[in-house]
Amino acid sequence: MPKSSKIIATGLYIPKKVVLNKEFVTWGLDTSEEWILERTGIRERHICEDNETTSDLAFYAAQDALKKAALKPEQIDLVIVATSTPDFDGFPSVACQIQSRLGLRPIPAFDLSAACSGFSYALSVANQFIQTGTATHALVIGADALSKIVDWQDRGTCILFGDAAGAVILGPSETGGILYSRLYSDGKEAKILYVENKKIKMEGKAVFKTAINAVLPAIEEALQKTNLKPEDISYFIPHQANKRIIEKIRDHFNFPSAKTLSNIETLGNTSAASIPTVLAECADHFKSGDILLLVGFGAGFTWGVTILIWE
Ligand code: ACO
Repeated sequence: MPKSSKIIATGLYIPKKVVLNKEFVTWGLDTSEEWILERTGIRERHICEDNETTSDLAFYAAQDALKKAALKPEQIDLVIVATSTPDFDGFPSVACQIQSRLGLRPIPAFDLSAACSGFSYALSVANQFIQTGTATHALVIGADALSKIVDWQDRGTCILFGDAAGAVILGPSETGGILYSRLYSDGKEAKILYVENKKIKMEGKAVFKTAINAVLPAIEEALQKTNLKPEDISYFIPHQANKRIIEKIRDHFNFPSAKTLSNIETLGNTSAASIPTVLAECADHFKSGDILLLVGFGAGFTWGVTILIWE
């Protein structure tokens, strides 16, 4: 049985339609370009067309990853899609749509719901399928189209989110790959960020505080358990919730800015897609032996820390 699993390819899909900060003002929302950029770090976000859905984003990202991995569809043994915005209310899953559109064998395919922590959760589950020998190659996708469930009249939320999908293909590893993975939840905080009547409701300040309080000790624990120091981390890849949350975590551990990877300026908060889109955008810069720290956090409240050695 393999010791662990490694990322053998990444894939990305970003919908074409762009919404600039100034467009919210044009639509009559009581906000400004400067406020959005200063308080969130976001300049623009991409959103789906009306006839474009999460499964479209996920499919194109998966196709991209499969091509780069140079694997045949029959070599994929598992599909997990982390999403909070599936095409259908309930079922079928996005993962089953992807299984069919890619022409995969009748392998296990399922969606996983952990909001913005979804990719961290999916990576951990897929890693365990590979570690137990149940799967050799797993397709793990983070895909969300929060533009479909955002209240476009609510200035506290609609400015934050964008749509995208990122995918990775995991394969077995004996010498590197995922070194550490731990997932957490605290359902007492469910009411600070939730969806009701198909619209996102959020207490922004409480989410900000809860995220910081959850993530700092989780990273401390991860470093301690792996005997790593902050300076051993080659790249810090946090969930892209808000530039100020990212900077607070970065500064607490003294991670250098150049090693703190972000795409929030151009994509906004893409929920389950945020970590895998950063991975896909930066994969060409990673060297074998680089140590990556991935930190997801989001509604639930959920959070998760992964440390992996790039091969
Ligand atoms: N434009 C202008 N003013 C605004 C806007 C806006 N878009 N949104 C809020 N304001 C106002 C508020 O109404 C408030 O006005 P008041 O003082 O008259 O009451 C003022 O700005 C300050 O509001 P705060 O909520 O204190 O602003 P803050 O600096 O905290 O920024 C924000 C709000 C951006 C939402 C911030 O709290 C945040 O990013 N929180 C984390 C949210 C997050 O990361 N969510 C995603 C989690 S991941 C997931 O699972 C989906």
